[in-house]
Amino acid sequence: MPIFATPQGWVLETANTGYALGLNAAGLLAHCYWGPRLTTAADYPPPPNPPAWGSFNNPAQLTPEEYPGYADIKFSEPCLKLSFADGVRDVVLRFESAAMPDGDRPELHITLRDAVYPFRLTLHYRVHAAYDLIERWVTAVNEGPTPIMIERIWSAQWHLPPGDSYRLSHLTGRFMDEFHLRREPLGHGVKVLESRRITSSHHHNSWFAVDRGHADEDSGAVWFGACAWSGNWKLAAEVTDFASTRLSLGINDWDFAWRLKPGESFSTPASCAGFTGDGFGGASRRMHDYIRDGVLPHGRQLHQVLYNSWEATEFAVDEPSQTRLAELAAAMGIELFVIDDGWFHRRNHDRAGLGDWWPDTQKFPNGLQPLIAKVTALGMQFGLWIEPEMVNPDSDLYRAHPDWVIHFPTRARTEGRNQLILNMGRPDVQDYLIAKLDRLLAEHTISFIKWDMNRNVSEPGWPDAPGDQRELWVRYVQGLYRVWGTLRERHRHIVWQSCSGGGGRADLGILHYADQIWPSDNTEPAARLAIQEGFSQLFPAGTMESWVTDMGPQHLSLAFRFHVGMCGALGIGGHLEHWDAARRAEAAEWIARYKTIRPLVQLGDCYRLRSPQQHAFSALQYVAKDRSEAVLFAFRTHIPAPAILPPIYLRGLDPDAPYEVEGIAGARSGRAWMHAGLSIALADFESTVRRIRRLYRTMPAA
Ligand code: GLA
Repeated sequence: MPIFATPQGWVLETANTGYALGLNAAGLLAHCYWGPRLTTAADYPPPPNPPAWGSFNNPAQLTPEEYPGYADIKFSEPCLKLSFADGVRDVVLRFESAAMPDGDRPELHITLRDAVYPFRLTLHYRVHAAYDLIERWVTAVNEGPTPIMIERIWSAQWHLPPGDSYRLSHLTGRFMDEFHLRREPLGHGVKVLESRRITSSHHHNSWFAVDRGHADEDSGAVWFGACAWSGNWKLAAEVTDFASTRLSLGINDWDFAWRLKPGESFSTPASCAGFTGDGFGGASRRMHDYIRDGVLPHGRQLHQVLYNSWEATEFAVDEPSQTRLAELAAAMGIELFVIDDGWFHRRNHDRAGLGDWWPDTQKFPNGLQPLIAKVTALGMQFGLWIEPEMVNPDSDLYRAHPDWVIHFPTRARTEGRNQLILNMGRPDVQDYLIAKLDRLLAEHTISFIKWDMNRNVSEPGWPDAPGDQRELWVRYVQGLYRVWGTLRERHRHIVWQSCSGGGGRADLGILHYADQIWPSDNTEPAARLAIQEGFSQLFPAGTMESWVTDMGPQHLSLAFRFHVGMCGALGIGGHLEHWDAARRAEAAEWIARYKTIRPLVQLGDCYRLRSPQQHAFSALQYVAKDRSEAVLFAFRTHIPAPAILPPIYLRGLDPDAPYEVEGIAGARSGRAWMHAGLSIALADFESTVRRIRRLYRTMPAA
């Protein structure tokens, strides 16, 4: 039973974990336990009833509440802050009821109600037992006759076992340099990570992992999670003076307000989190499986090898140039040909065109269909780049609807990359985009869409907003999801990619709409290795588009470039007309090779063997779910001579079965490959990919 009631509360169990909560003597919904699954229901601790600590710390302040509202003499981070119409600005939550509704997935709903005001709040818990994950979100309802202002409404507060010191792992970065993994001790006070950029952002990601300071890739207790939201989010990691550590996660309350009208409800996005004793690698693999099975619309679908012409032709796309590239691409075994920016009305540079989503008649006098027909005849599918949320002031759309952009009427409209942001919260903007893009997709044979978003917000105004202008932050994302979801529903065969100048919108929320993510515009392979390692903390390799391009020093071999790309969903972005016949032939071999390992990479278990962010000699392994085969990638960047490369210890194999590693004579047991390791000699900027095969299910007797 994944969820059951006990005399003292409720227990949520997954394959390996337990999570307990209950009402304490004061009637507060308190957190009781989160960690390894315990043997019996009676093993789970009862709700805590802390005594007061002098007059400055009353019991409520010391109770680890599941979802604290701002009330009482409490000063640690609340999840909920309201203002009622009469000016009362706290919320006194009292337990009302609990339910475990029947459904596909086990859920616990706990309903709380304000002690005086007609305000109801339901805490939702959904158990993803196979992945050791719990998903939490809340729904607020105004049951009274006057509006209630919501000033903060987070998705969850996650409590760690009290009394210990913890370390936070998180991801930071910037445009062209995303997903750096940082680990730092959590000290007293509040550590805040957030986005205020209207996207989830390149700069921080809502993914977190917390350990006691000594977990590693393979072992150790790790609590981990993320928020499924593609707009402004906030993570507050707080350590109280009483050694209680909690992470609160949800929509950013900065500049946020929501006017909850009589009879209306508001639901937050979900925060999904889990516990594992299998270290950071175990945490990632659980998230990867959950994303494939529970988030992505088609998580088991293999992605095709694509060619994207952006780095080759930038805005100079036309039928002849793209046809030449398509012919070369097809001959190399590429399966999907994607035209990036530059194909639509008057888009000759980044100063015009965004908003006018029809083919440019100068570049494509007969529309896109002749090119699509050629691409199809070459045996490839066809894909296109769009940036629906944006408009250039120099566009027909902006000239017709200057009021559709996010703006303050008295302020200059600050442009980023010469563009302004359409207010996706507006239903008329949503309807316009749905109509225009639906037509584009209906009139052309399009199999793939790269959905870009190339600037962050400024002057976040909405002069004729239906409610409070500060609802913009949330309504924007809701509108984005509506447009994308509607198009996705109407064009079910299309594979969608989320891009925001690279990895500016990589989050669990967008993966309900996008099948994959473009992690970075930086395709320099050594930099990419580090970016990909950070990305893999949360996301599975099948969602990680990775191109082979001409970026970076020319001494980097094509093999090295391919090996980096083959660690994810392989794509090619180099200028094929500048590649000679030998280079294209070599590329064709790597593409063919990739196709043989594609299911392992895209659907297998990922083991990070040696970190490229920490070491110039790094390694990564993907293992089939049944452990019958695996693939190893190893990379050396620059190591000053004389260098001695350490052994690589494989992971995830059957210890008792014999395996062969390509390029190494003789079979050895999985146990030997994992514990005695293997040596690979690599020169500077050399790399290797090796297949690993299980010969039998058990070692033959000696
Ligand atoms: C962004 C994307 C790139 C490319 C350009 C086109 O920068 O991240 O991959 O699509 O826009 O303008």
